Amino acid sequence: MRLHVVDHPLVAHKLTTLRNRETDSPTFRRLADELVTLLAYEATRGVRVVEHEISTPVAPATGVKLTQPKPLVVPILRAGLGMLEGMTRLIPTAEVGFLGMIRNEETLEASTYANRLPDDLTGRQVYVLDPMLATGGTLAVAIQYLMERGADDVTAICLLGAPEGVEHVRKAVGEEAPVQIVLGGMDPGLNELGYIVPGLGDAGDRLYGVV
Ligand code: URA
Repeated sequence: MRLHVVDHPLVAHKLTTLRNRETDSPTFRRLADELVTLLAYEATRGVRVVEHEISTPVAPATGVKLTQPKPLVVPILRAGLGMLEGMTRLIPTAEVGFLGMIRNEETLEASTYANRLPDDLTGRQVYVLDPMLATGGTLAVAIQYLMERGADDVTAICLLGAPEGVEHVRKAVGEEAPVQIVLGGMDPGLNELGYIVPGLGDAGDRLYGVV
């Protein structure tokens, strides 16, 4: 499993405004969208392409195009939906699936409650969208679920993460797994409620105005 914390002043600038409790929901949505596009640019460095012959107005040329099957983008409901447009802006031809995850408050185990995905993900490159990598429970189960269905290359894109979450996913999927996590920033840790500190609060609430 590889971890990539994007180090870029525009990412840091947008994250700072997202963190600010004074930032209202419309601004939060717009900034999250812009931030995802920047993170997606980094996250898709390994997207598969094949050679493609075209002709320019001047001469024949060899370029590239995305391979089949198309990349699959999977936002995790609810907050991952706020990242979808920022991602598909960069790969408009990507297919989109949805995964709803819920945590049992007694066992603290995450499980899927909704799934609109192709049945067979064999050989698919999958981009999972989930804004906050906190304890990592949800993301670990989501990645394992996708890999059990055949995905052979999974990248998770998160606005913010904490070391506990990264380590949880690493343990769950294994060091050698073809999994990449791309973060806009890594915070020091979690509080007793499982919130990232300093974080930005509840991403879903801030995106959808439930504060
Ligand atoms: N989910 C959130 O929305 N925020 C956190 O800080 C942790 C999990």
